[in-house]
Amino acid sequence: MLIQLRTNMNVPDIIIAIDGYSSTGKSSFAKSVASEFSFLYLDSGALYRGVTLYAMENGFIDEDCQIDLPALSAGLETLDLHFEDHGDGSQTYMGSRCIEKEIRTLTVSGKVSPIATVAEVRSYVDRKLREFGKKKRVVMDGRDIGTTVFPDAELKIFMTADPMIRAQRRALELQAKGEQADIQDVLKNLEERDYIDSHREVSPLTKAADAVVLDNSHMTMEEQLIWIEELVKKRFQC
Ligand code: DC
Repeated sequence: MLIQLRTNMNVPDIIIAIDGYSSTGKSSFAKSVASEFSFLYLDSGALYRGVTLYAMENGFIDEDCQIDLPALSAGLETLDLHFEDHGDGSQTYMGSRCIEKEIRTLTVSGKVSPIATVAEVRSYVDRKLREFGKKKRVVMDGRDIGTTVFPDAELKIFMTADPMIRAQRRALELQAKGEQADIQDVLKNLEERDYIDSHREVSPLTKAADAVVLDNSHMTMEEQLIWIEELVKKRFQC
């Protein structure tokens, strides 16, 4: 659900990069910020998921997550992934096909991590994001937006929260979808993903030196929006 304060701030043409750990609420926060400032929201994870769906449908990744790198790299040259908004929020497209639902399935989630470690895939996604960000007024969320994709972004946020609180939030989300969720299993999975994201060779998750930390362990979405508005007002005098 989108929370809006509607304070009508005159925010200048900037790029807002939001990075952070899994299940810190990055995408909900980024979407709310985009809506509040009338910016475009770009979900970088959706592009990694889109490449994963493409690789699966074309047999470029097998059951054991072995990747046919030459075939995938050749395919990336013509793969058209982009976002379209027809009044129902930004949706991910592969050519003329909306793939928003398919990229959120468990099968895609299970294969996206190995795909996201491939250097060719990362440079494909980076290229797309830089193209979309040319006109500024965008909010992007991911793991390496402020460090690699837009190191010159005018505002960088690094999101974190207490692991147990993140695990509780994630477990509630899973339960709402009707999935079983043991809190200790969820916590273990989160900590494993934090480790993999922070230790991979290409573009590991790390806080940019000039990023501002947002620890939302005990904050509502409304409080987070007030926090960013204060920050933007102070920094950009708007
Ligand atoms: O945010 P998400 O769960 O939709 O991201 C899907 C995957 O893509 C996840 O395994 C992390 C990876 N990812 C990444 O490596 N770099 C980004 N900028 C965004 C996502």
